[in-house]
Amino acid sequence: KILILDFGSQVTQLIARRVREQQVYCEIHPFDVSAEFVREFAPAGVILSGGPNSVYEAVGWHAPQVVFELGVPVLGICYGMQTMAQQLGGKVASSGKREFGYAEIRARGHSELFRGIQDRTNDEGHGLLDVWMSHGDKVTELPPGFKVIASNESCPIAAIADETRRFYAVQFHPEVTHTLKGKEMIARFVHEICGCQHDWNMPDYVTEAIEKVRAQVGKEEVILGLSGGVDSSVVAALLHRAIGDQLTCVFVDNGLLRLNEAEQVMETFARNLGVKVIHVDATEQFMGHLKGVSDPEAKRKIIGREFVEVFQAEAQKLPNAKWLAQGTIYPDVIESAGSKTGKAHTIKSHHNVGGLPETLKLKLLEPLRELFKDEVRELGIALGLPHDMVYRHPFPGPGLGVRILGEVKKEFADLLRRADAIFIDELRAADWYDKTSQAFAVFLPVKSVGVMGDGRTYEYVVALRAVQTQDFMTAHWAELPHSLLGKVSNRIINEVRGINRVVYDISGKPPATIEWE
Ligand code: XMP
Repeated sequence: KILILDFGSQVTQLIARRVREQQVYCEIHPFDVSAEFVREFAPAGVILSGGPNSVYEAVGWHAPQVVFELGVPVLGICYGMQTMAQQLGGKVASSGKREFGYAEIRARGHSELFRGIQDRTNDEGHGLLDVWMSHGDKVTELPPGFKVIASNESCPIAAIADETRRFYAVQFHPEVTHTLKGKEMIARFVHEICGCQHDWNMPDYVTEAIEKVRAQVGKEEVILGLSGGVDSSVVAALLHRAIGDQLTCVFVDNGLLRLNEAEQVMETFARNLGVKVIHVDATEQFMGHLKGVSDPEAKRKIIGREFVEVFQAEAQKLPNAKWLAQGTIYPDVIESAGSKTGKAHTIKSHHNVGGLPETLKLKLLEPLRELFKDEVRELGIALGLPHDMVYRHPFPGPGLGVRILGEVKKEFADLLRRADAIFIDELRAADWYDKTSQAFAVFLPVKSVGVMGDGRTYEYVVALRAVQTQDFMTAHWAELPHSLLGKVSNRIINEVRGINRVVYDISGKPPATIEWE
């Protein structure tokens, strides 16, 4: 396995993704882990990430020296190159200006890292590479034992190597797709230079994960809050495969789910897979507590609190349960170097079940802790979950509660559910569902005038929202074909009595958010 030490780059997770695409297991840890940690991890190779600092300014931001003493290959990327150079006796200085964007570099001499890898050759037959640069400092003096293996005019020392010790460093970012041959370089590093096998693959992982759960849980019982979302669904399928009837799922219908969602969850899990699922219809309870509340954050709090309440009551009926399973995934638990600069590491703040393990005195079972989202999906498919469930758009924990603006009423939820289902149906039919990252309808509690037949109507408005995004931090509104929007609008107005106007949201994020509340 490969150890990735994070120096705070925005794209450290991409390094891990690229390594795992090569079917090699890796983990990201902050750069300041202890020497004992590194030794115990026993990596086949180490990758030092990029980062926002300058090596000559950021005191203490270097790799544990043991990394260079283990006798395993090391790859430094950007800041990782600079700290490697400095720690091994070279020099780093400011370039005077930041270099950002595409650059063409020329491979020089023979290097194991670039051997046979090039985008094209120049007149003299030297290999040229298109790479992505983003740096303000550069290595100006080589550490002893190193040679230059790539350069260009603005960056004469663009990549270096000490082939004897198998230390490599590049000033550019091989982990981003803009570096066209980056994938091949990572493959070369992990397979040929570090000697890692292709042993991180889903079928093997399924077997391994099942064994791990069995060993951890033994004969004890487990409870899982099943929401119908991807993560909890995959946990349910995995645990059921591993421990069968020792698993009990609690599915809480808060009255704010999508059309037929409860039926679909019960069908997939209870009927088809034979999972024990307790279906709690708590619509009345949620609606009762939401009455008269229109502030979005207050609504979120109430929905979260009532969920805990209902879940707890169900859990208490299962006195033999010793474990609470959760769908925590790897991006939720990576402790990045950012935490050193005061930025708290990422924790899913909207985790509905926060606090539950303590009050219920349950041990926490998190079988997806090591997986990225796309690996969770692959696992879901490997476990036989339906494609449409595994590739479903994300749905917020508070559900339609934040898609009905202002006060939530059952009558509004019923209208919205139907409008939303029509929108999603038509998106699927037009092959647009997979081209959007999230799409849904929003209920606006304002009435506008319309005509229907001979009469005037005075009914509610629905807004359609569809966005495209990589990370949900920024998003573009989807340029859906007008004909598709027209069809959705017609169907909603004709089929959902109570709505006489449909509008399309054309705001980007930022400044607008994806949800309306
Ligand atoms: P915004 O609206 O902030 O949404 O642009 C970004 C992503 O987060 C989801 N979201 C939530 N998910 N509980 C959740 O579980 C929430 O309270 C919540 N609010 C927003 C939203 O659906 C989108 O995917």
